[in-house]
Amino acid sequence: PAMNVEMWFNPANQRNIAQLLADGITVFQPAEGEQACGETGVGRMPEAAELADLLPDMWADKLLQGKKVLITAGATFEAIDPVRGITNISSGQMGMALARACRAAGAEVSLVYGQIQTGIPAGLAHVEQAVNAEAMYRAVMNRVGGQDVFISVAAVADYKVKNSSTQKLKKNPAGTPPVIELAENPDILASVAKLAHPPFCVGFAAESENVIEHARAKRLKKGIPMLVANDVATAMGKAVNRITIITETGETAFPETDKNQAAAEIVKKLAQCI
Ligand code: CTP
Repeated sequence: PAMNVEMWFNPANQRNIAQLLADGITVFQPAEGEQACGETGVGRMPEAAELADLLPDMWADKLLQGKKVLITAGATFEAIDPVRGITNISSGQMGMALARACRAAGAEVSLVYGQIQTGIPAGLAHVEQAVNAEAMYRAVMNRVGGQDVFISVAAVADYKVKNSSTQKLKKNPAGTPPVIELAENPDILASVAKLAHPPFCVGFAAESENVIEHARAKRLKKGIPMLVANDVATAMGKAVNRITIITETGETAFPETDKNQAAAEIVKKLAQCI
């Protein structure tokens, strides 16, 4: 429904909307903002792109109905000075595809993202940006209580800049390059997995060689029940992925697909495990 704000909040209209909901009809709630008549408020039609994103959920299997899922996505950025930093080529597409797939499966999704080069899905319960690893660690630890699942897709920098500068570094006239010292960042996934009552943890392993061997070792090292292995050459910064899902009971390799399809496979596997 889309209409003038006064019409929307009119008690007769609200009664009718309540009746539709009681009858089991899905109502895409109107958005808030400037209206054609010049007033401002609730009653705008949601953006077409948002409706196109949300509509297919109606036909998706509700494999995660009622579950709470926390996802990290994108790349972290570790500042060297106010304009420069250390980051990586993760685009956030896999994390967003998973957020969308979990939402479609009926989950309440919370998203913590770093630097991304893609859009954020509509209809998520909580969305928060945390650009560096420490901020992402804090955001995750604040939210993780009560979650059923934690999916750690973000490409988190293992190191931050120890001697980052609050002022922009100037080029040294003598030609001596600056020395960047590094310090270790917290491992977000391993920390969540070590909690007294952890959610079901899913990790990602982006590897450039010996993908499966490294991924198997990583799952055990991080102490997590499920890990998705992918080759950086096929996956990072791209719209496609070729994944292998590794769990305590076995491994399933999938052919190269777009990231939405890969996310749907991960959700299916996840639903069998929790
Ligand atoms: N991860 C994390 N916090 C970090 C580093 C990684 O939560 N500080 C998570 C990633 O989100 C991913 C998994 O751990 O789910 C594996 O990340 P990856 O970078 O492949 O592994 P590392 O633990 O950094 O190991 P290495 O760099 O030696 O491959």
